Parts: sequence; structure tokens; C-alpha cells
Amino acid sequence: MSFKKNKYTIIKNAISKDLAAFCANYFLIKKQVYDTCMKYRYISPFENMLGFYETKDEQVENTFSAYSDIAMETLLLKCHSVMEKATGLKLNPSYSYARAYKKGDELKRHKDRFSCEISTTMNLGGDKWPIHLSPKENVGIPDGKKITVKSKAKGIAVDLDPGDMLVYRGTELEHWREKFKGKECVQVFLHYNNTKTPNAEKNIFDTRPHIGLPNWFRSK
Ligand SMILES: [Fe+2]
Repeated sequence: MSFKKNKYTIIKNAISKDLAAFCANYFLIKKQVYDTCMKYRYISPFENMLGFYETKDEQVENTFSAYSDIAMETLLLKCHSVMEKATGLKLNPSYSYARAYKKGDELKRHKDRFSCEISTTMNLGGDKWPIHLSPKENVGIPDGKKITVKSKAKGIAVDLDPGDMLVYRGTELEHWREKFKGKECVQVFLHYNNTKTPNAEKNIFDTRPHIGLPNWFRSK
């Protein structure tokens, strides 16, 4: 399907199932380490100066999430060429953001900030949980037998298997997730800018000096 026409597309097996499972396990161990450290007060939210643990995630409260986890930043670079091919655009990497969603979580309907101009959400593992995109009259149905896409008045639901990636114009298409009925789901967002968009060059790495740095390195 055409990203240019529809403003979204799906990349099956953007990374291998093995790598997706590795990343999901890695992130869940990181969460476990964080939970234990917090429980026994080896670190406090105040001491969490590196910013790798997002203690104030405003979109999904009390769900473990991380801006610029180094492994996820490496995925951002790894998927760069796949993303350029899928979109037909020259892209600058912006930042990564991962979450380990839990039962009852919900992602409110929203659009993203400029650094998420060309966004992806990739399923790394856990229970299935569709992401919804805003309805558009002319949206096509993605190819591929394993993708479930159903047009409904309330939007388009996209189911992804581990390693699959939904690519969408995050600043243009509203997207959301309805209440999660499963137990656990690990997802990573990989964000890019179109090099031809005004101010894209000033926004490389989400305005951080280089990839991997926490978000307080962003220029204000
Ligand atoms: Fe978003």
C-alpha cells in the first residue's frame, strides 16, 4: 500500500521475531530492575537523573516507559533505511520511546509533536493490542494475510505481530489504543523527520547533540 497516498503503511517483519523477542525481554528485565530498585530505595525518582526511566509519563500514567533507551535508539538507526524505503522519503532519525503496557492501559486519541512527523509503532512482544488510526475516506486496506485491518466508524484497527511496524504521519493522523485487556504488551515508537520539511535539519535527534542522550539534552 502507498504511504504517500494513505499517510500510513505497515511493514511486516521490519525486524526478525528473534530480535523482537530479545528487545521485549530486555525491556521487561529493565522494568523489573527499576521496580526492585525503587522498592528498596536504591534510587529515588529524584536521583533518576539520567532520565532513562520516565517517572512522569503523561500519556499513560504509571506504566514503565523510556525515552532514548540505548537498545531502542539502536533500533531507530537500524530501521532507518527500511523506513526510507517504505515511505519513499529521506529521513532524519529523531528519537525512540518504549513502553511496557499493562492491563487496563489506554492511549488517548491524539496527534504527535513535530519530532514524530514520520512515526512508527513496533510490536516487540506480549499480548495482542490493536492501534487505531483516525478514519479517512480514502484509506486503503494494507496487503498481507496476517494484518487485520477493519474500517469502522470509530477508526481503523491495526493488529501487529512481533517485529511488525505501523508507519504513519504522527502529526497528521489521530491515533489511539482502547483499553488493554491483555496482561502485558511491549511496544517501541521510532520517530523520524522528513529531511525536506522546514526546520528538519535543526531537529535531528530531537535536538539532542547525538543519539542515545536523555531528553533533558534537548534544546529548549
Ligand atoms: Fe502518538
